[in-house]
Amino acid sequence: MTIIISGGTVVEASGSFRGDVIVEGSTISAIAAPDSALVEAAGRGDAEIIDATGCYVIPGGVDVHVHLQLPMSPEAVSSDTFTTGTRAAALGGTTTVIDFAGQLKGTSVRAALDERLAEAEGACCIDYGFHLSMGDVHEQSLADMRSLIDEGLTSFKLFMAYPGAWYSDDGQILRAMQVAAETGAMIMMHAENGIAIDVLREQAAARGNIGAVWHGRTRPPELEGEATHRAVQLAAVAGAPLYIVHLSAAEALEQVMHARDRGRNVFAETCPQYLHLSLEEHLDQPGLDGIRHICSPPLRLRADRHQETLWSGLRNDDLSVVSTDHCPFCDKEKLLGIDDFRNVPNGLGTIEHRMDLLYQGVVTGELTLPRWVELCATTPARLFGLQGRKGVLSPGADADVVIYDPSVEHVLGVETHHMQLDHSAWEGMAITGKTRTVLSRGQVVVRDHEFVGRSGHGRYLQRSLPDPLR
Ligand code: URP
Ligand code: ZN
Ligand code: ZN
Repeated sequence: MTIIISGGTVVEASGSFRGDVIVEGSTISAIAAPDSALVEAAGRGDAEIIDATGCYVIPGGVDVHVHLQLPMSPEAVSSDTFTTGTRAAALGGTTTVIDFAGQLKGTSVRAALDERLAEAEGACCIDYGFHLSMGDVHEQSLADMRSLIDEGLTSFKLFMAYPGAWYSDDGQILRAMQVAAETGAMIMMHAENGIAIDVLREQAAARGNIGAVWHGRTRPPELEGEATHRAVQLAAVAGAPLYIVHLSAAEALEQVMHARDRGRNVFAETCPQYLHLSLEEHLDQPGLDGIRHICSPPLRLRADRHQETLWSGLRNDDLSVVSTDHCPFCDKEKLLGIDDFRNVPNGLGTIEHRMDLLYQGVVTGELTLPRWVELCATTPARLFGLQGRKGVLSPGADADVVIYDPSVEHVLGVETHHMQLDHSAWEGMAITGKTRTVLSRGQVVVRDHEFVGRSGHGRYLQRSLPDPLR
């Protein structure tokens, strides 16, 4: 089956131009000048022509940080399933997600991955992969890390936060980084100083400060900056590349910038919530409004100008990726912490809105169109071993293609979103631009804003080693 996406403006990380995208089966066969002989030849026979006039034609988005049906605790499981979350992602222009298998203390890395693979099997609407969250670094898990890498799981998240649960100490972190240095795997770091944060949390609660805003006040940006600094230095000692996840604070970005200025293979992602939402306007609210916006790291003070710093970091390539850290909880679960912020399951729902929320940076002039594509598709694919297959519109790449209409105006909210979530952290936000049509491996899965794909279409991605060249 041949599909020709014609009349649009092709946008890639390297630039934009008028061109037609020719899809043969599940891959891209060519990008050709409109009306060229190549397009004419492809159009003979029963080719389907999709008109993209007035639209951008971009590689499908690659969201490398999502948590679908994640059991945060026995009472709180993130509300999007592999099916509902990947369907919402597709509607928003994302065609690849990477979730996490989580190794809890006392369990094996191998079992964690097998369990997650079984849960996702046959359930996803778009292609998916897993990182491994390591909660118990010891001889066996380090050995298992090597076998997982051989099987195409090439990235491992460690935590400087959450003592007593996911936390690793500096020695454990160094040892995992040494394996990454030897093998070429990527270490992803949740960089917040959890030991110091726990002291602040206990002190706040002891004084009766248990509202949502205290979640933010007890996770100050200095403790994200400190942990980021430590992670960067440990990675230098090990000789490993490093990827800081969900970077929220100017203090942390400063550390990443410093490392990159010295030519180090240090990368960081930020998330739309840190670019658009703030502690004053969203977290410091009474009742449900506040706790709906609890995530870690927390939303930061707008007055401290973190958002401006992050936008500038995206522009200047100090930040390499925008992912969502999609981890939605319905009000029933969020309400578990209505009397104490420490009991609120952390996370927001954003998987459907990432391309739109970052496109607002193009609208306001913060980013160029190619940079938008680079941040949302090309670089995340490259850093997580999907280079050549995902995040590009090159001949031979998977035909994951998004037709994005920049003229549509819409408003985000619970009435219109497709995430399995009974509220929206983004309620009322006006957006310019919307995904119109989406192809996943050559199959139309969204047509004119309607989902027409199916669960089970998505395939598990065994990934190569990351390409950490800067
Ligand atoms: O609040 C967040 N970020 N929830 C998901 C877990 C994590 O640390 O990424
Ligand atoms: Zn994290
Ligand atoms: Zn996360």
